[in-house]
Amino acid sequence: MKHVAVIGMGTMGPGIAATLARGGMTVSGYDTSAEAVANSGALITGAFGVLEALGMPDNGGPEQIRMSDSLEDCVAGADLVVETVPEDLELKLDLLGQLDGLVSPDCVLASDTSGIPITRLQEGNSHPGRVVGMHWSNPPHIIPIIEVVAGEDTAPETVERMTALIRQINLLPILVKKDVPGFVENRVLYAIMRECVDLVEDGVIDAEALDQCVSWGIGYKLAVVGPMALLDMAGLDIYQAVGSYLNKELSTRSDVSPLITERTAAGRLGIKSGGGIFDYTPERIAELRQARAQKLVATRKALENR
Ligand SMILES: NC(=O)c1ccc[n+]([C@@H]2O[C@H](COP(=O)([O-])OP(=O)(O)OC[C@H]3O[C@@H](n4cnc5c(N)ncnc54)[C@H](O)[C@@H]3O)[C@@H](O)[C@H]2O)c1
Repeated sequence: MKHVAVIGMGTMGPGIAATLARGGMTVSGYDTSAEAVANSGALITGAFGVLEALGMPDNGGPEQIRMSDSLEDCVAGADLVVETVPEDLELKLDLLGQLDGLVSPDCVLASDTSGIPITRLQEGNSHPGRVVGMHWSNPPHIIPIIEVVAGEDTAPETVERMTALIRQINLLPILVKKDVPGFVENRVLYAIMRECVDLVEDGVIDAEALDQCVSWGIGYKLAVVGPMALLDMAGLDIYQAVGSYLNKELSTRSDVSPLITERTAAGRLGIKSGGGIFDYTPERIAELRQARAQKLVATRKALENR
């Protein structure tokens, strides 16, 4: 695959475009929002800086990316289309329906959905075998895994092409064997988040202390020893003994906690609105963005040397 179209230039699109271009593809980008297109240039430049700091093989630069002013122009001649428009089933189905009539039958249609089953996104597509999940992790130019998810009708060849492409751009394909909502990364993340939010809401711990506990405890450890290897490290007998009394104490709520819903209703959405769980000044946001990117780069480099 040589030419990729990236649809959606919001949080994810610019980093995805930069990573694919650095990996040697030519990329065309498209967004219905002129503001998103205008902002994408600086985000793409920033992502290239990070890819350089990571030491990713240099097979292409920003000159390999161009923005299109129509969907038709963007996907013309594409071997792969990556859609990364908002997480809304109807919106994605509408876009995939349009793409169906615009690309050649052997062009792969990949969705960056965070967890909508791919089988649902294949509905109505005249060549459902080419539709596949390509779930990047945010920030897409820093986190080296991409989940590859087949829907019921995805052709094995599409999965193979996707996996080969991800390896070719020096990232790690993670094959998800069943098309379950949330795939794997988000199921694990949301299980952790549900418990963390519950602990803070119940007053077991303050938000700052919760973050310290998780980041310096299991977060730091899990980056080196994954959960399955951790079971062996700790001992399955210990897990069985603790799990037998602790599992029934853990949160099983199926709605979203008021700690989140009340803030969301009040417009406290996090960094993007200047406050969420914590408060942020514009200076603090800039500082945090830079420090987090630097630390993620340093950690990834250290982990790659193990
Ligand atoms: N944000 C994350 O952390 C993250 C991580 C992994 C996957 N995802 C998934 O990636 C997708 C995009 O998420 P995001 O956070 O980048 O969203 P976003 O809202 O930041 O950006 C989406 C962009 O798509 C544009 N758009 C909307 N409709 C369009 C259309 N019909 N054609 C072209 N452009 C259109 C919007 O103008 C916007 O700029 C979602 O499916 C999301 O679940 C997000």
